[in-house]
Amino acid sequence: MNLKEFLDKINGIKDAAFSEIKASKDKETLEGVRVKYLGSKGLLSELSKAMLTLERQDRPEAGKTLNQTKEEITLEHKRAHQEVLKAPVSESDYIDVTLPGRRVPLGHRHLITRTSQEICHIFEKMGLTITEGPEVETDYYNFEALNFPQDHPSRDMQQTLFVGKELLLRTHTSCVQIRTMEKTPPPVWIVVPGKTYRRDDDLTHSPMFNQVEGLVVDKGITMADLKGMLAEFARQFFSQDTKIRLRPSFFPFTEPSAEVDIACVNCGGKGCRICKGSGWLEVLGCGMVNPALYKNVGYDPKTVTGFAFGIGVDRMAMLKYHLDNISRFYAGDVRYMRQFPS
Ligand code: DAH
Repeated sequence: MNLKEFLDKINGIKDAAFSEIKASKDKETLEGVRVKYLGSKGLLSELSKAMLTLERQDRPEAGKTLNQTKEEITLEHKRAHQEVLKAPVSESDYIDVTLPGRRVPLGHRHLITRTSQEICHIFEKMGLTITEGPEVETDYYNFEALNFPQDHPSRDMQQTLFVGKELLLRTHTSCVQIRTMEKTPPPVWIVVPGKTYRRDDDLTHSPMFNQVEGLVVDKGITMADLKGMLAEFARQFFSQDTKIRLRPSFFPFTEPSAEVDIACVNCGGKGCRICKGSGWLEVLGCGMVNPALYKNVGYDPKTVTGFAFGIGVDRMAMLKYHLDNISRFYAGDVRYMRQFPS
């Protein structure tokens, strides 16, 4: 090697070392660079051995340049090392207080949850206690104990999904009437919110929907108490001037049974498209507890009487907020829910 070649080589090494130091963003990489260039078996030390191949008179200049370069690289390495130590290790190590805060996205109470809670609250104020029961039920609690005999056509009113042979998805919350009376002696004043399931699917029916059940069993309870409680409920839920009427109907677990209508929320009773000209909207089923149920739970039908009712929560929400498609409740779109009070 001659002097020129030697000096060129030093310069090449210096440039490479500088650019590698510059590119190093952490301690480990920098240490690698140090070993590669400044280490005892590094490129510079190799070069100092190569000095012996130079002409004697060229060696002092070569040595001087080599030492200078070594010093420059060492200095640059130290500077970079300091910088790496000072630099934030991760994003969480520094806080820029001038940046705007990050918003935590908030959800919105589901309109069905809200409506169910609102309905229950009205009945709680009248003295009923919230009770719940399982959504997967036995045939006994969903049908048999509620006086739907095996193979009786009354079962056709409510078709559901079976989970195995004995278990089904409950078609109504009425099962909780039996479960509660079995466990507790009278008086019973309960309100039961919960999910229910049926083989039903159109603009106003969903295979999964929600009900609130009511049951009052006590001494001397009459149908007048039932009507009074439901009339007050309608006034509190819709508006103070809401009128109701009871129409005879049939349910196996009540006798007599009735369907409750409210004066149409759209036209106030004059007749319109919503109420199909009748002025009335059907909102719930109710009746006096069929004494057959008392036998199933061990109550004495001579000492207690009672009434029950079942309210469709989805239907109540749709009527109150003038909605026409039940499936929107279950589409999981928070923007839809945000239109309604939380
Ligand atoms: N379980 C009935 C249904 O889902 C609703 C119902 C009607 C409940 C009358 C009652 C009642 O408690 O007395 O269609």
